[in-house]
Amino acid sequence: MTCRRGRGPYRGTMSDTPPAVAGPPASPGEPPVPGIEAIGLKRAFGAVKAVDGMTFTAPAGAVTALIGPNGSGKTTLLLLLAGLLRADAGRANVAGYDLTTNNLDARARIGWMPDVFGTWDALTCTEILRTFAHAYGIDRRTSGDRVAAILARVHLSEFAERPARVLSRGQKQRLGLARALVHDPEVLLLDEPASGLDPRSRIELRDLLRGLAADGKTVLVSSHVLSELEEVYDHAVFVSRGRTVDTAGPAAEPVKRGWRLDALDPVGLRTFLDNAGIPWSGQAGGDVVVQLGGYESARELIRAAVAADVPLHTVSPVSGRLEETYLSLDEERI
Ligand SMILES: Nc1ncnc2c1ncn2[C@@H]1O[C@H](COP(=O)(O)OP(=O)(O)OP(=O)(O)O)[C@@H](O)[C@H]1O
Ligand SMILES: [Mg+2]
Repeated sequence: MTCRRGRGPYRGTMSDTPPAVAGPPASPGEPPVPGIEAIGLKRAFGAVKAVDGMTFTAPAGAVTALIGPNGSGKTTLLLLLAGLLRADAGRANVAGYDLTTNNLDARARIGWMPDVFGTWDALTCTEILRTFAHAYGIDRRTSGDRVAAILARVHLSEFAERPARVLSRGQKQRLGLARALVHDPEVLLLDEPASGLDPRSRIELRDLLRGLAADGKTVLVSSHVLSELEEVYDHAVFVSRGRTVDTAGPAAEPVKRGWRLDALDPVGLRTFLDNAGIPWSGQAGGDVVVQLGGYESARELIRAAVAADVPLHTVSPVSGRLEETYLSLDEERI
């Protein structure tokens, strides 16, 4: 199931029924279909069905969040999409290229950032990135400028000529991100990219992801830090036990969720809610939580409170939509 949050056109669906999917370009002149399309992907490790039939699309020009508990198959899925693991069944198109039949074409357009970026500790950051740039076919005359620009983009310029072994964990993560970006890929696959980053770096990462989506890139990003994904995602794919999970998307917002209210006059707020017949919970004198159906319900409540002269100063969802949807999945870690 995919969830949509407003930005950009969305063509994708997720279901157990494979949708019709475009193959590689029909003719050499025809541009490939952007984005990611996965159909019934499966991959087992012995008896463990790590990815057990995942079908979804991640459109170009958007950030798609990949969300699921530990062991639900996110990393395995990303490895399959990066062309680094072979699927047992199913297929995936990345930037319009079938990973099975056109693996190299697809991989040339993919930027992959693993959850832990292992690198050559004795080489400098510049040497590492130039090595990858050359592997992607960027010529030596231009790779220097490109690598310098990427290092600046991830705020590692001062480490350009220093060996990778001196980098902290968060700095290594940023070098991993630079590696993923060095060949200007169309599709970014990022596994827990915020892990190990300090608050400023996380904000910069968020801005970077939004900028990449605005440039038309396809960004698929897994993370456990749902509050950070809330700020950046356009669509969400929820996975559990190797399968895509069927949930309602936040755009529909069919279920009630908790909203926190606070007023300069807490007693007046409670009296107002009682008179309006709105159940609330909360400690005496503090804020209260009410269950509302969505933004429109919140707007009506604010309007009624203002009309009743209740000095309301805070109305906010108790948790983010992703967090709420995630917790409502009722799925377990494995
Ligand atoms: N190389 C492997 N050999 C055997 N089992 C594996 C291998 N890789 C993954 N698994 C198993 O596949 C399942 C999915 O693992 P995966 O790493 O894809 O989960 P994940 O969603 O990325 O978890 P996390 O949130 O902890 O990163 C797990 O049960 C894991 O133990
Ligand atoms: Mg993982």
